[in-house]
Amino acid sequence: MTICGAATSNCYNTTSNVLVFISSSLSSPAKTKFLPSLSRFSVRHSCFFAQTRPRIGFNKPSMNLFSRLGFGGARAQENTDSSIPQGPDDDIPAPGQQFAQFGAGCFWGVELAFQRIPGVSKTEVGYTQGSVDNPTYEDVCSGTTNHSEVVRIHYDPKACGYENLLDLFWARHDPTTLNRQGGDVGTQYRSGIYYYTPEQEKAARESLEQQQKQTNRKIVTEILPAKKFYRAEKYHQQYLEKGGRFGFRQSAAKGCNDPIRCYG
Ligand SMILES: *[C@@H]1O[C@H](CO)[C@@H](O)[C@H](O)[C@H]1NC(C)=O
Repeated sequence: MTICGAATSNCYNTTSNVLVFISSSLSSPAKTKFLPSLSRFSVRHSCFFAQTRPRIGFNKPSMNLFSRLGFGGARAQENTDSSIPQGPDDDIPAPGQQFAQFGAGCFWGVELAFQRIPGVSKTEVGYTQGSVDNPTYEDVCSGTTNHSEVVRIHYDPKACGYENLLDLFWARHDPTTLNRQGGDVGTQYRSGIYYYTPEQEKAARESLEQQQKQTNRKIVTEILPAKKFYRAEKYHQQYLEKGGRFGFRQSAAKGCNDPIRCYG
């Protein structure tokens, strides 16, 4: 049983993500739109949540959760019909919006990174690609359901190309460690791109090829069609923005590049 950050309090791969992002954004004409808006937001919006006072109240849900862990596995075995969880994500994004979905380790930090991207209108954390219907966090952390912790992104393709999202995905994590990100070990921490359209699939495969050229280690990221998305429990949503474990809120302002403390 492993929960986010159980083995370490450090974050993985938090340095210069936005810088990596900017330089890769310059490489194609479709992406140049992104740069001005990012700079604009960086200048105007300081990361205003970083200095706010700790809000102790936010400790409670996670402490309750941690004390309940260990009693979670039973439900998962009851429901083994995998036709629903293995079916497609048939939710519909708002008009003008598209979905994208990524698994890159503990979903808290990954979500905050995507929240900060101009053109991303909404993010949700959840579970997908597993074998049971309606899993809980405890089920997923038990390691028996094969779900991946993912972030589902709602974005406006006119304001933010899918390639920009892919760039951030690669910059945010180590795609060469199988079922593992830093101290977080388990199949729920696997690296994955879950696509909604043939165009997304093509872009994902091409970007993986590009990334592979830049490292000697084998990239183990899975690229699969998006399956049913189970929204995680409410307290996991925008967890770090709301204060994480210790009540220190982290800014989700567009363009903010404060280092992300992945576990709060
Ligand atoms: C877990 O799901 C992945 C797809 O995300 C699949 O490739 C793998 O075979 C599954 N593992 C098990 C044990 O079912």
